[in-house]
Amino acid sequence: MIDLKGRNIVSIDDLSREELIQLIDTSMRLKDELYVGQSHEVLHGKTLGMIFEKPSLRTRVAFETAMTQLGGHAIYLGPNDIKLGKRETTEDIARVLSSMVNVIMARVFAHKTVEDLAKYSKVPVINALSDFEHPTQIVGDMLTIKEKFGGFNGLKLSFIGDGNNVAHSLMLAGAKLGMHVVVASPKGYEPSQKVLDRCAEISKETGAKVEALNDPQQAAENADVIYTDVWASMGQEDEAEERKRIFAPYQVNSKLMSSAKPTAIFMHCLPAHYGDEVTEEVGHGPQSAIFQEAENRLHSIKAMLVHVTR
Ligand code: CP
Ligand code: NVA
Repeated sequence: MIDLKGRNIVSIDDLSREELIQLIDTSMRLKDELYVGQSHEVLHGKTLGMIFEKPSLRTRVAFETAMTQLGGHAIYLGPNDIKLGKRETTEDIARVLSSMVNVIMARVFAHKTVEDLAKYSKVPVINALSDFEHPTQIVGDMLTIKEKFGGFNGLKLSFIGDGNNVAHSLMLAGAKLGMHVVVASPKGYEPSQKVLDRCAEISKETGAKVEALNDPQQAAENADVIYTDVWASMGQEDEAEERKRIFAPYQVNSKLMSSAKPTAIFMHCLPAHYGDEVTEEVGHGPQSAIFQEAENRLHSIKAMLVHVTR
């Protein structure tokens, strides 16, 4: 068993390939055990501090429920509770909170905020979404892919849309797991070159291939997984109308799905805007894995909490 005690998960790249596989395997085991009624109270007496600068359904409920099932407790600190960076500095919040709780998760606007929390915290910090990455989403998504396909090697995952936080974490995880990840975005909305470069480096060892292009049709060709996300992320609401126009050719609909393999699945981190990035027909259709994917947030977040909390 790989020891991740005391470790931060700010980026997927904080995990080695073996550690990522370990987390996916633990997620799968915890899910199976939960289904047969096995108790998981291994974090009895432990507390999770949850910092939210943005809204959440899945991530908040998954972390809170995970702590309940693990026999611990979770404290929700919303935007109006601690006013991160306004009422108090990130550094002081990290020092104070980590002197009381055993593990911290944070959903923030700027990626640097969660990096700073990790820097000044005495306890592990888990990135629950920043403007650059969404690692807890992707550990759960890899569990879903493993359940659907039995493994990762050589699978083609096509992310159609904004080269955003979810895309970045998918690319890094796909690179570690030997997948072929293609991100198709409009010009100017491609994923970060830094992430592409890092993926190229990782791929040398794992045999993966991670690429960014602009043609959604070409990206979808022969894919095993078609993945999309909202066109305007939290914090980009002002750009929503403009993005709707720019991203219109990137909608995942039945026509685009028909370019993928007949066995392909559709994934979306949710929340979804049906009629924009995905049609209702695809989102709620027979190839869609979105609700299995959402449930898997719980099992994978439990695995992360079990592994990093001291
Ligand atoms: N996918 C996801 O992170 O959902 P929430 O924003 O509802 O937590
Ligand atoms: N890219 C989206 C993901 C939401 C879970 C956002 O950041 O809003």
